[in-house]
Amino acid sequence: MTKQKIRNALLVHLVILFFFSTSVVSARVVSLLQNYGNPIFRSNFHSIYDTSKYGVFQLSNGLGKTPQMGWNSWNFFACNINEMVIKETADALVSTGLADLGYVYVNIDDCWSSVTRNLKGQLVPDHKTFPSGIKALADYVHGKGLKLGIYSDAGVFTCQVRPGSIFHETDDADLFASWGVDYLKYDNCYNLGIPPKERYPPMRDALNATGQKIFYSLCEWGVEDPALWADKVGNSWRTTGDINDSWASMTTIADLNDKWAAYAGPGGWNDPDMLEVGNGGMTYQEYRAHFSIWALAKAPLLIGCDVRNLTAETLEILSNKEVIAINQDSLGVQGRKVQVSGADGCRQVWAGPLSGNRLAVALWNRCSKVATITASWEALGLESGVHVSVRDLWQHKVVTGDAVSSFSARVDIHDCQLISRVSNHAHQ
Ligand SMILES: *[C@@H]1O[C@H](CO)[C@@H](O)[C@H](O)[C@H]1NC(C)=O
Ligand SMILES: *[C@@H]1O[C@H](CO)[C@@H](O)[C@H](O)[C@H]1NC(C)=O
Ligand SMILES: *[C@@H]1O[C@H](CO)[C@@H](O)[C@H](O)[C@H]1NC(C)=O
Repeated sequence: MTKQKIRNALLVHLVILFFFSTSVVSARVVSLLQNYGNPIFRSNFHSIYDTSKYGVFQLSNGLGKTPQMGWNSWNFFACNINEMVIKETADALVSTGLADLGYVYVNIDDCWSSVTRNLKGQLVPDHKTFPSGIKALADYVHGKGLKLGIYSDAGVFTCQVRPGSIFHETDDADLFASWGVDYLKYDNCYNLGIPPKERYPPMRDALNATGQKIFYSLCEWGVEDPALWADKVGNSWRTTGDINDSWASMTTIADLNDKWAAYAGPGGWNDPDMLEVGNGGMTYQEYRAHFSIWALAKAPLLIGCDVRNLTAETLEILSNKEVIAINQDSLGVQGRKVQVSGADGCRQVWAGPLSGNRLAVALWNRCSKVATITASWEALGLESGVHVSVRDLWQHKVVTGDAVSSFSARVDIHDCQLISRVSNHAHQ
């Protein structure tokens, strides 16, 4: 680890944020179009960052204007959860400062419920692991200024064979609302072969009918391409199967999710699944790449490790304010893969427009050795004469005040430099 760190220090790491300063772009893609007349953007800008399907609050529950942030129990704890873990996690989100950075949803995944409904047909919290009930837990979490999420399934059972909510949508939504729940993750196991397009809207309607604002997170694993229909159903929709704590899984999922970039926008987000940062299966560089790409792709930032026991490195990654700000940018346009080179396309440039005439650019080294990666202005959709300043969001400093036509950096194995750029002092 120490060796790796020293090696890191010798290389530039970027999640580059590119800024242009000619005119102020407001928080809508439409405003980007207004820059066509000036010499910053090439005519291919809008095909590179296609936003033709960009939704605007289509679910109209007022939630998810930026991707949701918080924590979910599954990736670390799986079925080994109880009310103590949830409370201590809420405490830890506050004490680590993560809550102040926006991680506010405390989401309980599968296994909170008893294996059978009660005589009234209601879901019941497992009396051994959640003896005080979910209402008490919601009160506790709310008392910390956080929000509570719960889990159910659009089928007859959850994946861990607790009762599912299909055909019980109204009763279960009413129960969740009576407990003060703020978020529902809705899974896809034991679904009777009924298409998701038929199984997911009834819960949307039931949640809406409660009159309480409940974030609706669809988890149909991308099986019927939810980006094509779920914008009017949920605030986010999983685009892939489950992530696991490995480089292979994380990269595969990033690529699968990228296909749907044009469909994301305020109110409805593509969800490539929860973060594995801090769970131990990837290197520091790989976790930094994971976090950078999820942020750039406007993915939900749901921490998946044990926040009661974070290493300094994990906390450093999860609490990078500049990277979080890319994810939460008001423009809400999903960044995407714009340029690949090298063997198997392992030298990659991912980029996306931000509010304020800025572009977030990630130089992602997926090769098995250190590589120099170049982002050309052409690939980014910029005129080649544009001068930009480049800021490294992991080093927290401007690495060059005046890059023209391209920007290159050496990037460590499996690392990702995230940069952002400003200011066009050319073309005066
Ligand atoms: C319910 O849906 C209507 C129509 O889409 C919307 O205006 C309203 O805000 C929704 N209410 C809640 C609580 O989600
Ligand atoms: C993790 O995901 C990768 C890529 O999809 C897969 O090859 C691997 O078998 C998975 N590992 C586990 C333990 O499920
Ligand atoms: C905290 O995490 C470390 C690994 O980072 C692990 O060895 C230790 O057992 C964990 N402690 C607790 C109380 O879970």
